[in-house]
Amino acid sequence: MEKRLIITVDGPAGSGKSTVSRILAERISYIYLDTGLLYRAVAYKAMQRGISIEDDEALRKLCDGIDIPFETDNGNMKVLIDGEDVSGRVRTEEIGMLASSVSAVSAVRDALLLPQRSAGRYGGIVAEGRDMGTVVFPGADIKFFLDADADERAKRRYAQLMENGINVDLGEIKKGLEARDYQDTQREIAPLKPAGDSVIINTTGIDVEGVIEKMTIIVEKHTRLAGN
Ligand code: DC
Repeated sequence: MEKRLIITVDGPAGSGKSTVSRILAERISYIYLDTGLLYRAVAYKAMQRGISIEDDEALRKLCDGIDIPFETDNGNMKVLIDGEDVSGRVRTEEIGMLASSVSAVSAVRDALLLPQRSAGRYGGIVAEGRDMGTVVFPGADIKFFLDADADERAKRRYAQLMENGINVDLGEIKKGLEARDYQDTQREIAPLKPAGDSVIINTTGIDVEGVIEKMTIIVEKHTRLAGN
């Protein structure tokens, strides 16, 4: 039987990793795991309960026994909070920034580690986030790290939000991305960084299909070498 690989895709906000990971997973019939969505769900839950992101102790309590069910529906990932699908509601810049803050708290990362690893236990997964190749799946078969210039990342995010009818300012988007990059790369636990054995792809000036093509070549080569 064909070996089902664990493929990780890490990188900063706006590097294009969500789009390409979702499409790649769909094309090779793998599960798509958007781990940012889990951190966003925790941030949303904290916000709903009026918990300050500065309050590590309250976040610790919130995460004690927390259950964030998630599922893939038609190639898209959904998260539920108290039985309600909040996926659309948490994909905002505001929740992205809150997620970045709560993700620096060890209790939050610890609570999400097991569910993420469980999702990959049978392989056949494209797992996307910040620490997939370094912490969650250090033994992954293929590790990608996607990056792009801050200007290009801001423009992509801007276009995406405007397309969804959300009116935003490009300068503000860029500032927000840079603040999030800073938090995500400078935190003590599981900071955003390429795993030593990752394939780094700078997606500046390359469209989605171009990035997927580069990734597919590597996936196919790996599959052939594995004798599948
Ligand atoms: O990928 P995203 O923009 O949805 O992620 C939101 C935040 O969640 C991101 O700024 C940092 C955090 N995150 C993380 O710390 N580790 C992950 N594996 C995924 C996301």
